[in-house]
Amino acid sequence: MEAKRFISTIFFLFLLSKSYSLPHPKKGARIPCKRLAFYFHDIIYNGNNAKNATSAIVGAPAWANKTILAGQSHFGDMVVFDDPITLDNNLHSKPVGRAQGIYIYDKKEIFTAWLAFSFVFNSTEHKGSINFAGADPLMSKTRDISVIGGTGDFLMARGVATLMTDAFEGEVYFRLRVDIKLYECW
Ligand SMILES: *[C@@H]1O[C@H](CO)[C@@H](O)[C@H](O)[C@H]1NC(C)=O
Ligand SMILES: *[C@@H]1O[C@H](CO)[C@@H](O)[C@H](O)[C@H]1NC(C)=O
Ligand SMILES: *[C@@H]1O[C@H](CO)[C@@H](O)[C@H](O)[C@H]1NC(C)=O
Repeated sequence: MEAKRFISTIFFLFLLSKSYSLPHPKKGARIPCKRLAFYFHDIIYNGNNAKNATSAIVGAPAWANKTILAGQSHFGDMVVFDDPITLDNNLHSKPVGRAQGIYIYDKKEIFTAWLAFSFVFNSTEHKGSINFAGADPLMSKTRDISVIGGTGDFLMARGVATLMTDAFEGEVYFRLRVDIKLYECW
């Protein structure tokens, strides 16, 4: 009996040592608690599409104007948008929400922008908002911006959104694919 007890004690200690030596999960290996993918469509006012436009230049450098995006990589332009969000890449699909906020072109040498916007949902599928902010080096194939919060169904959301330019038509229309990975979900 002594031997049996000895062995079970050893086994218990072995289990204990195992549980204490479990590695801390690596940040890069974390798994999102929620993943969502959407598209949004931006039609910039260009002087003759007031009916159709979903965004407008509201600030421009003194050497430019608010009708046409400025030269030098649009540096200094600030655009306000209220864009439809769809589940597929079709501009004419039924919108599931609105992408609302601003982008600011913030570098003369290359096209790059700073984004601050919300996805606003009010459907049977999703109610609430997801808030995004971050640098968008838009010539890169994919860019990560931060998910900095949310409300409603997305209360306290935190994570990363990967942006991809899915289409681009001159300086009038672009479509972004947004892959949202939340690492905090309530
Ligand atoms: C609105 O503009 C977009 C982008 O230029 C275009 O694809 C679409 O056909 C336009 N819609 C209408 C109704 O003019
Ligand atoms: C705005 O700037 C563009 C490009 O320089 C020019 O073609 C256009 O006439 C300007 N529009 C106004 C209203 O000043
Ligand atoms: C959401 O939709 C409902 C039903 O259409 C409407 O009554 C409500 O005012 C909407 N809420 C917001 C914040 O738009």
